[in-house]
Amino acid sequence: MSVPLDIAALGARAAAMIEELGAISESPDHLTRFFLTPQHRRAADLVATWMREAGLDVSEDALGTVRGHWHPAGPGAPRLLIGSHIDTVAEAGKYDGAMGVVLGILALGIIKKAGLSRPYGIDVLAFGDEEGTRFPTTLSASAAVAGIFAPASLAMRDADGVSYRDALIAYGKNPDDIPAAAYDPNKVIAYVEAHIEQGPVLEADGEPLGVVTAIAGASRLSITVTGEAGHAGTVPMRMRHDALLGAAEMALAAEKIAKADRHGMVATVGRMHIDPGSINVIPSRVVFTLDLRSGSDVSRREALERFEREAHRIADLRGLGVVISAFHEVATVPCYRDLQLRLRNAVADLGHPAPSMPSGAGHDGQAMSKLCPVGMLFVRCRGGISHNPAEYASPDDMGLAAAALVRFIERFQLPQLTDATGGVLT
Ligand code: GLV
Ligand code: MN
Ligand code: MN
Repeated sequence: MSVPLDIAALGARAAAMIEELGAISESPDHLTRFFLTPQHRRAADLVATWMREAGLDVSEDALGTVRGHWHPAGPGAPRLLIGSHIDTVAEAGKYDGAMGVVLGILALGIIKKAGLSRPYGIDVLAFGDEEGTRFPTTLSASAAVAGIFAPASLAMRDADGVSYRDALIAYGKNPDDIPAAAYDPNKVIAYVEAHIEQGPVLEADGEPLGVVTAIAGASRLSITVTGEAGHAGTVPMRMRHDALLGAAEMALAAEKIAKADRHGMVATVGRMHIDPGSINVIPSRVVFTLDLRSGSDVSRREALERFEREAHRIADLRGLGVVISAFHEVATVPCYRDLQLRLRNAVADLGHPAPSMPSGAGHDGQAMSKLCPVGMLFVRCRGGISHNPAEYASPDDMGLAAAALVRFIERFQLPQLTDATGGVLT
């Protein structure tokens, strides 16, 4: 435990970097930065500059993931991966994703400057498609790194009809290179991510940092409800086949199913498209999304079946058609027990207890768990507010998190985990 740490300076630097990255947006009024856009390009270039300033070698893979490499034991040595994402939701906060990338670069910069040597290397990764807000693909950049990229993603289209494949080519990438983005599982030790908590628990506990036990599983559905367009002034209520009213009833059914669950299930209808979308026309077609999450995969799957039954019942009663398709499905991922202990010890070195907590939000660790053991550090979030411009983590807390990553690396002496007791800890 020898590397000297100026936590206040680290926090101030992290805050300045997050401001700079947060200014790269498709709009001057709010932060929106989607995958494979010109804003993604600018953010990736800025991250690459910071990585070079930290003394790292920089590369970029076929999906635009920026990689900062520290090679104290040569490029062929096993690697510890630290990362997060630089894409955002629409009208986002500045910390979700960006903070983990910034903290990884800062921590590695300090380790490198201190002249530490290790029999393994460390890569900092900045993924570009964690949120799944441009294409319905979610986690595709980390999936490529983990060697589980689904080629069907390339055919998916964004809201403007641009295909993933075409967007990738326009970004200067070659889809044929995607398989080469995968790490060799035999050469990867673990993946560790620092992330804003996005919830209120650490603030309520009065603790700056927490250790994640598991990342909740999630399903995302697209539901198309079809009815019949008609004149808003002439068709009596009893003779209507209003697709929107059916969709609204289905959304309420999803709420009821989630509220009845005992594993903290959450259901969100975040997107709804109404056709023809005219003030005086009965809606003929509605497409909406359902995001369903739970700490229990069993209850999530049961809830999906119940929702499907309910949606068909509602459609039948209203004389509507309904088609449901799942476009994202990810199981609950337990964080590796050994990494939880190491992260907690690193935080303890700084005088804090780091309570254990599950993550209801999704993270790149879900895809990375197919490659290697995964660990996550949470940073206190003001008011528990996230996916919102009001999202905030204090410089002090971010400084501590960067320092915890430094202590974590200092404690990580050998190119393997010493304890293979990965398992569900909830
Ligand atoms: C990502 O932020 C998600 O959990 O949707
Ligand atoms: Mn995130
Ligand atoms: Mn997010």
